[in-house]
Amino acid sequence: MEKKYKILVLTGGGDCPGLNAVIRGIAKRARKEKDWEVYGSIEAFGGVFSEPTEIIKLNQRITAGIHVRGGTILKTTNKGNPMKFPLPQPDGTVKIVDRTEELVKKIKSLGFEAVINIGGDGSQRISLALYKKGLNIIGVPKTIDNDLAATDITFGFQTAVQIATDSFDKLVTTAESHHRVMIMEVMGRDTGWIALHTAIAGGAEVCLIPEIPYDIEKIVKRINLRYKRGRGFVNIVIAEGAKPRGGAVTHSTGETGSEHVRLGGVAYQLSRQLKEAGCQAEIRETILGHVQRGGSPLAFDRILASLFGVHAFELALEKKFGRMVSYRNNAITSVTLEEATKEPSVVDKNSYIVKAAKGLGISFGD
Ligand code: F6P
Repeated sequence: MEKKYKILVLTGGGDCPGLNAVIRGIAKRARKEKDWEVYGSIEAFGGVFSEPTEIIKLNQRITAGIHVRGGTILKTTNKGNPMKFPLPQPDGTVKIVDRTEELVKKIKSLGFEAVINIGGDGSQRISLALYKKGLNIIGVPKTIDNDLAATDITFGFQTAVQIATDSFDKLVTTAESHHRVMIMEVMGRDTGWIALHTAIAGGAEVCLIPEIPYDIEKIVKRINLRYKRGRGFVNIVIAEGAKPRGGAVTHSTGETGSEHVRLGGVAYQLSRQLKEAGCQAEIRETILGHVQRGGSPLAFDRILASLFGVHAFELALEKKFGRMVSYRNNAITSVTLEEATKEPSVVDKNSYIVKAAKGLGISFGD
């Protein structure tokens, strides 16, 4: 009988519109090669660790039409990092252990030739560690935050910006009707990409991002100016990681096993600060939250994700392991996992996009 090569696909970290399109892209491209079979591990590497394993064959029936669906059919988690795995102990405590060695052995013993890990910066750091332990692995970048420097854009970002912009538009009409200051908080972790793009697309008066700590007095001045000119209203977009000059980021502790602190709530902090700094206008806050990651991907993200999927499989076919798929200079390409995990992509306050936003009258509170 002809030998079948098996490839394992998984999604890790937060979900993101376009994940299913990548999975389908890999599966469809692989079907063109008669000797390859594609499998999916449920909930990142959790499916490999579990006994019995939770690994499903990604046949045509399972992947048909999934590119239009949000979320991930393979489920995901941001808590199962095999490098720092939270292992419950008999005494009820949780011990953090490195399970990479065990993971590589198990994947190989299950007969997989290669693995495709679809995930953000954290997931690609895991890919690199596993690659160094001898696993044939390929990364596919995903994140709504668009914070990976090794790719010009990540899928999910455009969809998140569209959802945020649609919400912003709705807040403008109510701001206008009540002469209010509306603060809309968006995601983005330590970067302001979603906020910046939404502010330009929506036409915000103020955009606050982590890369440019804000001066509350300047924002109050800006608000007062708008109100002085007539029946004013102000729409502010604030990134969840934004902070005042000399101040700290608003966050709460992450859940056990989660590598990140949980951001969120900065809209309320800003509201309080504005009042304390003498802002007389009525203020309302909206935290958009996970709505930005939900639902169907836009056409752009479906296309980018599908091309990433096809390319990831082709890298496996060519045995080009230890690489991450990337989109650069209008072309689908790949970079080494070292390069992929080197640095995040943050908004440069001297970049043209920030200057142009200022040219459009948007204040960054600086
Ligand atoms: O990285 C994507 C992201 O949506 C961030 O923008 C946000 O801070 C974080 O994930 C939220 O994570 P969780 O789903 O664990 O609340």
